[in-house]
Amino acid sequence: MPEESINYDRAADFYDATRAYPDGIAEEVAAFIVQKALLKSDTNILEIGIGTGRVAVPLSAHVGSITGIDISSKMLAKIHEKQASAPIQIAEASAENIPFAARTFKHVLVSHILHLVSDPQAVLSEISRVLKRPAQLIHIRGFRDNPPKFEVVADEWRKHRKLGKKSVFERASSNDFFLPSDWFKIEEHRFTYPTKENPKYFLDAIKNRWWSTMWAMSEPELEIAYLAVERVIKEQFGDDYDSEVEFTAGIVLQVFLPKK
Ligand SMILES: C[S@@+](CC[C@H](N)C(=O)[O-])C[C@H]1O[C@@H](n2cnc3c(N)ncnc32)[C@H](O)[C@@H]1O
Repeated sequence: MPEESINYDRAADFYDATRAYPDGIAEEVAAFIVQKALLKSDTNILEIGIGTGRVAVPLSAHVGSITGIDISSKMLAKIHEKQASAPIQIAEASAENIPFAARTFKHVLVSHILHLVSDPQAVLSEISRVLKRPAQLIHIRGFRDNPPKFEVVADEWRKHRKLGKKSVFERASSNDFFLPSDWFKIEEHRFTYPTKENPKYFLDAIKNRWWSTMWAMSEPELEIAYLAVERVIKEQFGDDYDSEVEFTAGIVLQVFLPKK
């Protein structure tokens, strides 16, 4: 496993609680993926970086089976703790070295992983290797339309997050990974849902190192970031850290076909 890929073992116990979709939305996201990627009840899917099955567990109700790989054994262990009967096979393996023969899967899913791997192009070549022809790569990523006050807070955080050699933010945005020479984009759709969060969430995230951008930061760096973000929250919200702010979040789904 390349040392720069970001293993989520340390997040296994808080990942679902801190990244969960609002009630009922995970099921809607699954139905949206099925509809837009034309999945069927006998479709077999390979998910790269399946994590705790946040996407795969609800999706597995609609398809024949899902095979999931991940470098984090602790994230993988959560899948069947959540739903023992889910038709999901798991393997501890790296996206850079997918443990399946060439041309094995007609559908590969990637969700929130390309920005975490050491070499996204190598991962995409591996995915292309295990895809049958014709076949599709389904790529999903989340987005949030931050309300203006949250954007000011987020801007302050961006000044502090670690920009060291291993920072995920020195890597391109995941949209830039799909080279037109290698992939046809045949679909792109957005699914949106209402959500809410309070300003305190930012502070809890920093204090508890919930986001992978915090994992390479030293304690003093994190403390400085916390104080700076707290100051901006005070400017924006006064002492009212607990009031929920409503906004829209969503996912973008893209479907790519390998060109070669
Ligand atoms: C942000 S989580 C996303 C999990 C899931 N796909 C989702 O959307 O909730 C990223 C996952 O990718 C895994 N990961 C990171 N680098 C990897 C690699 N090179 N090979 C396989 N898995 C990797 C991490 O361990 C983590 O479980």
